[in-house]
Parts: sequence; C-alpha cells; structure tokens
Amino acid sequence: PVEGLDLVAEIKKLKEEKNAVLLAHYYQRPEIQDLADFVGDSLALAQKAAETDADIIMFAGVHFMAETAKIINPEKTVILPDLNAGCSLAESAPADKFKEFVEAHPDHTVITYINSSAEVKAYTDITVTSTNALKIVESLPKDEKIIFAPDKNLGAYIMKETGREMLLWDGACVVHEAFAFDRIMELKARHPESQIIAHPESDMTLLRAASFVGSTAALLKYVQEDEGESYIVATEAGILHKMAQSVPHKELIPAPTDENNTCACSECHFMKMNTLEKVYSCLKYEYPSVDVPEDIRIKAKSSIERMFELS
Ligand code: 13P
Ligand code: SF4
Repeated sequence: PVEGLDLVAEIKKLKEEKNAVLLAHYYQRPEIQDLADFVGDSLALAQKAAETDADIIMFAGVHFMAETAKIINPEKTVILPDLNAGCSLAESAPADKFKEFVEAHPDHTVITYINSSAEVKAYTDITVTSTNALKIVESLPKDEKIIFAPDKNLGAYIMKETGREMLLWDGACVVHEAFAFDRIMELKARHPESQIIAHPESDMTLLRAASFVGSTAALLKYVQEDEGESYIVATEAGILHKMAQSVPHKELIPAPTDENNTCACSECHFMKMNTLEKVYSCLKYEYPSVDVPEDIRIKAKSSIERMFELS
C-alpha cells in the first residue's frame, strides 16, 4: 500500500496533522533518525516523553521504551512501529520469576535497568538507565542492600566502579555480548592510535580494555569532545550514524563480533525491525499502540519518578 509514496513527506505531513512527535533511539535505522523530532539515549528519550505536549508519541525504539512513555503519559496515544521490537534484556527477566526473587529478599532496594517490562518496573524501587545508574547507586547509603536487574554486565561494572556489592539478576544483552574480544584486540593492534570505547552492557573483559565506558549519549559526547582521531566503537552500530554526522573527520571503526555472527557489525535486530514503511502505517492508522494496565502503571511510574528525581 505504500508503493509510490514519498514516505518521508507523508510522515512529516501526518505528524503535523495529528500533532504527533517522533522519538528515536540512536540504534534506529539512519533514515528514521534523520526524520525524528528527537534522537537520544534511553534517559533522554524518557525525559522528552515526559515533557512533550504532542497528542501522539510515536516511539521508534523497542517495546520497553514505548511502554515507559505510556507509563508517564497515560492520556496520550503511544505507538510503536512494530510490537515485536522487544529486547533480550527485558525478556531475560520474566515478571513472575522477578517477583519471586524480589520477595525472597525483602530487605533489599530494587534497582532495575529501564530495559525491563512495566510489570518488572512495578516491583522496582528505582529505575535506572546506563546514563544515571552509577550516580544513582552511589547516591544510596553505603550499607543499603541492593538488587540490580536485569543486566549482569552493567551491574558488574557498577560494582567495580563503586566497590559495593549488589545482588545481580542473570540477564544480558545479546548484542553487547556478541563482540569478539580477540578480534577487537587484533584490530587495536593494527590501529594502535585508535581508542576502544564501549557501552557498559558489554562484558568486563572488554570494558577493562576500553579507554572509555558510557551510555550511547556518553559515547557520542566522548568522540565529540575527545582530542583523539580514531575510535573502535563497541556498541550497537546504529550509533555510528550520529557519530559520523557530528565528527565526520574522525575515524569510527565498528567493533567486530564473533565470526559466526551473521552481520559484520553488531546490530540489534529488535531495533532494526522498525522501518520507514512501518513508521508511516503506524502513524496513519495509530496502530499498534502500547497500553499498560492501570495498577501496574501506577507502581511502575513511581520507580521512574524516583529515577527522574535522582538523575
Ligand atoms: P542507552 O540508550 O541508555 O545507552 O541504552 C542502550 C540500549 O541498549 C538501549 O536498548
Ligand atoms: Fe535490548 Fe540489547 Fe537491543 Fe538494546 S541493543 S534493545 S539492550 S537487545
């Protein structure tokens, strides 16, 4: 049905007619990022969703991101181009198992990465993102017992940086665990001037070898402000689009993944499910939309509000 249409022009027209805002994550396809009203990391996107006065929020990202926008904005229509755009981290923490885990440790404060379902957030005291997780954990009293879920790699990184113990959930991001350390080291040997920069969802061996570790927004800022000229970028390859736009003179090398991996660089197939065609039809028909049962929404919202207060 979209053949022959100028999708970019049609989407722009629909956005205006419907007072819709298009929020996109850095891992989205380049053509979607270029069309978005705002491109950001998980924290910035949640903050934008909280401030927008649009009637419709179209989330070009994955399900937990759209769900977070709905939790904050129950009165708005929140749409996601493909409802199957999930997240391996969110899937690693099924709500029933997570509830049991939390109930087995009633004396712990529950800190959950935003990459989780609304139901899991409902059992959470404070939601965090990769941008603020370290700061939020550090802001809690030293003797406070903490459950950190679902990303064991981000959890281990925070434990290393803060020197505190936390009880970790055993979840991981398939994309950030797919990097091949040996191949990255070979690449580094061939480009000794290049700095390895990595997202904290990667495993500790890689993080220890990195010159800089940070969220997608922090990695982007690093390449913009650092004096270096070359970077081996260990996060989802979508970030390279904004990096290349903002530092066109610098060398940006995507970190290689395992040779058995089907793509040459690390791509999140969930993030890439959103296409321009789906953005168009989703906005046109306001479908599929994301909804959260009210009892879950109220509880999940308080964990997100705690995050905003502490960010
Ligand atoms: P940030 O956007 O917080 O860096 O997180 C990356 C991510 O994995 C989103 O799915
Ligand atoms: Fe989830 Fe990893 Fe994809 Fe981010 S990159 S959406 S954490 S699977």
